[in-house]
Amino acid sequence: MSEKLYIFDTTLRDGEQVPGCQLNTVEKIEVARALEALGVDIIEAGFPVSSPGDFNSVVTISKAVTWPTICALTRANENDIKVAAEALQYAKHKRIHTGIGTSDYHIKYKFNSTREEIIERAVAAVKYAKKYVEDVEFYAEDAGRTDNEYLARVVEAVIKAGATVVNIPDTTGYCLPEEFGRKIRFLKENVKGIDKAIIATHCHNDLGMATANTISGILNGARQAEVTINGIGERAGNTSLEEVAMIFKSHKELDIETNINTQKIYSTSRLVSSLMSMPVQPNKAIVGRNAFAHSSGIHQDGVLKNRENYEIIDPRDVGIDENSIVLTARSGRAALKHRLHILGVELDKKGLDKAYEDFLKLADRKKDINDDDLLMLVGKARSENARITLDYLQVTSGVGVRSVASVGLLIAGERFEAAATGNGPVDAAIKAVKQIIHRQMTIQEFLIQAITKGSDDVGKVHMAVAHDGVHYNGFAANTDIVAASVEAFIDAINKFVH
Ligand code: KIV
Ligand code: ZN
Repeated sequence: MSEKLYIFDTTLRDGEQVPGCQLNTVEKIEVARALEALGVDIIEAGFPVSSPGDFNSVVTISKAVTWPTICALTRANENDIKVAAEALQYAKHKRIHTGIGTSDYHIKYKFNSTREEIIERAVAAVKYAKKYVEDVEFYAEDAGRTDNEYLARVVEAVIKAGATVVNIPDTTGYCLPEEFGRKIRFLKENVKGIDKAIIATHCHNDLGMATANTISGILNGARQAEVTINGIGERAGNTSLEEVAMIFKSHKELDIETNINTQKIYSTSRLVSSLMSMPVQPNKAIVGRNAFAHSSGIHQDGVLKNRENYEIIDPRDVGIDENSIVLTARSGRAALKHRLHILGVELDKKGLDKAYEDFLKLADRKKDINDDDLLMLVGKARSENARITLDYLQVTSGVGVRSVASVGLLIAGERFEAAATGNGPVDAAIKAVKQIIHRQMTIQEFLIQAITKGSDDVGKVHMAVAHDGVHYNGFAANTDIVAASVEAFIDAINKFVH
């Protein structure tokens, strides 16, 4: 019989702590429910002591989902643990995730401490967490660079203190796959009582090896993989859930299975990308736009003869149904509802009526409506309740003339207008918006992507705007690229102007 691999999703903690990826509570609940439907075993819902917002997220997610264990992160101190336990009070299944740095770098330069003292603090934290919950996970931060003999001592001590899961993070993404696998094997072979706990991997992707390291860890005895949707997370990100799930689904000979309903992978990926305004790179394994696109003539010919000539995964296994990707002006409300359901978006009757009305308007301008268009429509309906919205935009531009833009914004229902000239239509329009919103802000990233190919296509704009040292992401899509740019700018501004 296959062995079970527990999937621990940290999109809402490690993923959400990325600058610009913050979600509001309603959005977090939407993601948590999607993760539950996807079949994840554990949802890391936040770091409750870090802010009232994180505390509330753990509370509301605990109430919103039933099956997965809800996990809350802490440092190894009593106050963090007490606050986490309080935030978890409504969870049907709860876990406290506590830990401390164990590499010599962390011991010396972060804690100004000693190896012995770190073991004492780790044990004390686990014992204290056990007073509140049965299920306690311990993380040895920077385990990737921790000496294996010492790591084994730490792990043995925390298991003795009651840890049910021991997390071995490659926090800096430094390890080589073979080295990380050896580390897990070393723990399996040298820690007394190791069979009383589950070993977890938590790999970061700084050198592009997060998934390889995770798989190596699992092949050497780990049975929990800590992952995020689309691999989002600190710096270069975490191991991506979809890659781990599909590796074990594709390689049956490894005899390891997860509870992931892989047909929900695509919709969950789209949902997270759109709510976090975080684009998925086109060549991203499993969920990137090009993951199943065959462009060379030789490949296309081969796939038409037999899909398995060039495809190791059937796109339908990850929820991409090629036959129903495109909707047109002739598609009915039921088709729209079905497609939105596949994308993980559930609307009530009023929401669906509005989405259908917007869909028909767009279909008048654009022949084929694809998934990104639909997510854009639904996102737009959400942002219509925002404090600042674009009322009108008029630009004049051309070759050899300076561009001029007039902009009208509605701020809490009141109209404000401004006009500006600029180095092109986007520059002029952004300057006009800045005349209305008197805040210090600079555009840090500005990415324009055409969704498909035609000149009637919808352009997607992702923008990162810095304000008071924090980055806020904005997203918009429109067949008019200047309008999409201004809307993305306003979307970002709405995240810091209240
Ligand atoms: O990367 C890391 O070490 C972490 C821990 C807090 C688990 O995210
Ligand atoms: Zn991490």
